[in-house]
Amino acid sequence: MSNIKINLENTGIAEKNILEYKEQVENIHKELNKRANDEKDFVGWLELPTNYDKEEFERIKKSAEKINKESDILVVIGIGGSYLGARAVIEALTSSFISEEQRNYTEILYAGNNLSSNYINELIEYIGEKDFSINVISKSGTTTEPAIAFRIFREILENKYGIEEARSRIYVTTDKEKGALKTLAQKEGYEQFVIPDNVGGRYSVLTAVGLLPIATAGISIDKLMEGAKKAQDKYNNPELKENDCYKYAVVRNILYKLYKNTEILVNYEPKMHYFTEWWKQLYGESEGKDQKGIFPAGVDFTTDLHSMGQYIQDGRRNLFETVISINIPNSNINIRPDDDNLDGLNYLSGKDLDYVNKKAMEGTIKAHVSGDVPNIFIEMSKLDEQNIGELIYFFEKACSMSGLILGVNPFNQPGVEEYKKNMFHLLEKPGY
Ligand code: PA5
Repeated sequence: MSNIKINLENTGIAEKNILEYKEQVENIHKELNKRANDEKDFVGWLELPTNYDKEEFERIKKSAEKINKESDILVVIGIGGSYLGARAVIEALTSSFISEEQRNYTEILYAGNNLSSNYINELIEYIGEKDFSINVISKSGTTTEPAIAFRIFREILENKYGIEEARSRIYVTTDKEKGALKTLAQKEGYEQFVIPDNVGGRYSVLTAVGLLPIATAGISIDKLMEGAKKAQDKYNNPELKENDCYKYAVVRNILYKLYKNTEILVNYEPKMHYFTEWWKQLYGESEGKDQKGIFPAGVDFTTDLHSMGQYIQDGRRNLFETVISINIPNSNINIRPDDDNLDGLNYLSGKDLDYVNKKAMEGTIKAHVSGDVPNIFIEMSKLDEQNIGELIYFFEKACSMSGLILGVNPFNQPGVEEYKKNMFHLLEKPGY
């Protein structure tokens, strides 16, 4: 039984129109499965929940334990696909507020995802006397932001613990044989984890890229993989009629053809904020090319109903929404009666906060659908490792299907090189 359900009733698209894509979907399905075992292709993520390096998986758990014994903080250095997946899972599954006394696991902090000197200095100040380790993650091993951050934090680590101990506190996740980071890791003898050749950055959360920070944060990576495996089995059905993941991909493409070229991923749970960031990167980098593609946007409701709500209800009609709803919150709060009722809220007494949140969601969906914003509704029973694993795989697979229906290559990102060339030229990097 799946804990994730999709409802397309409010998209305005009839099942028969979806099923017109049956043949195309079946062909792409076959092609994807054929490509999954090609080590030179980028479809290795398709079988990751079952086909992964078991020895490395155990080593990830051991390293997570070691980091927890030795360090108050793990600085995860990476950008884009080399960091967003881990942050998405960690923020979704750990408390938003943990004091040092309450903390049972190493705190995960992030660097190398921007070039802000303020950010880095504030992070250095926050680390202060605390013990820390580093997990530097880069598939290419040459990305500027993480490379600079690593240089800075490595020096701090070496000054603090001496070269030898610093070495044992550095964990490198990179390509198995190439790149500057690989060379450095080999030379220094750092603990290393591999990003498989056939798994691209934004599809890599279920490799060591995501798994080491996630395990260090005290989250069960076994359960996460179990959830992903469930999705792998479930969405390997070539029958469009029975495959919700493919239906989502098809509906997006139909909406796109109807000039709905912006998709807003909506949550009513702030812990899902970084999940949306991860999703935005996955879809934006996979589909936005050849002057095509749905623009992936995101909002946290009800917060953003007070900022973006107006536009969504009344602005340019090129939007559709995909709402992720979590059926049962991990904890709830009762609204109690108040004798004076000066705030006028007694009509809610006896109800719980999640009930109010759900009514806000129902009311908003109704309003937006009637304002010509089609709605895709994804229900998740609760926020836990299995369901997040399942949802990750659902979106990855849907993304590849959607991109291939659109007629783009969902596994490359040629566009991101443009700004780099200019930046390197301006920085007078040799060769630019
Ligand atoms: O999805 C992608 O491929 C990118 O977003 C990369 O993850 C990002 O650019 C970081 O690259 P790297 O891991 O090579 O440092």
